[in-house]
Amino acid sequence: MSPQGIGGETWEDDTHRVALVTGAARGLGACIAGRLYDKGYRVALTDLDAEAATKAAAELDPSGQHTVGLALDVRDKEAFAGVRDQLDERWGAVHVLVNNAGHSKVESLMRISPESFASVVATNLGGTFFGCQVFGEYFAERGYGRIVNIGSLAGQNGGTATGAHYAAAKGGVATLTKVFARELGPHGVTVNAIAPGPQDLPVVRESVDPEKLAQLEAMIPVGRLGRPRFIADMAVLLAAEHADAVTGACWDANGGLFMR
Ligand SMILES: NC(=O)c1ccc[n+]([C@@H]2O[C@H](COP(=O)([O-])OP(=O)(O)OC[C@H]3O[C@@H](n4cnc5c(N)ncnc54)[C@H](O)[C@@H]3O)[C@@H](O)[C@H]2O)c1
Repeated sequence: MSPQGIGGETWEDDTHRVALVTGAARGLGACIAGRLYDKGYRVALTDLDAEAATKAAAELDPSGQHTVGLALDVRDKEAFAGVRDQLDERWGAVHVLVNNAGHSKVESLMRISPESFASVVATNLGGTFFGCQVFGEYFAERGYGRIVNIGSLAGQNGGTATGAHYAAAKGGVATLTKVFARELGPHGVTVNAIAPGPQDLPVVRESVDPEKLAQLEAMIPVGRLGRPRFIADMAVLLAAEHADAVTGACWDANGGLFMR
């Protein structure tokens, strides 16, 4: 199919665009990075664990031409700016940011310490805020950009198997998505969120025992955990050039656990 759309716009051709995914060493972030790579993007896989990010990047593209693994702690605004500059130098531009890095913690409501609350909010909410700030400004200056924030069903319903700090931070991600979308819309930059329900991912299988997992699956109207690849495909769609009709949105993908 021709990439030319009506009026000479280019459609469905994201080849050679550059995407940065946070928390991409494993889990959903690695899956999103993989789908972007499959679509022809050059992809920076960033993570707190730089070694694992480098390994994941090399697994996708052993030639090292189209992927790179970099250290990026999303709690550090300056680290975002540093990675932005490195990618600018390496590939000439960045077009897409996926704020995926997150940290969920199961803790009983009245036992969450001030330190634990601050730490979970810093990663899940602070990280998204800094990413949107640094790349929102950069994209706006260039008149183009796509930001996809990974929220959670927990941010909408208060959480089923996670802590209040995590749920509150993810609720904040949905709100920040709207605030940045309004600010950046006139500059060619879209900002959207995806709110996945429980996914078939290592973190879920590691932290929930098999019996509880079976109960959880039975509660989900479609009867199964979500498929990360579908979430990744949602992110790819929101990152596309012709996705500019959607901004400030939060796309649900929860198997029917939460309907609105
Ligand atoms: N797993 C699920 O069922 C599920 C459901 C809804 C939303 N989510 C969200 O999807 C995203 C990915 O989740 P996952 O299941 O793949 O988790 P995961 O724990 O398997 O992976 C998270 C990655 O983020 C990295 N990370 C943690 N703190 C970081 C920091 N400060 N800076 C940079 N990287 C950091 C970790 O090193 C890890 O590689 C998270 O935002 C999570 O909240 C997951």
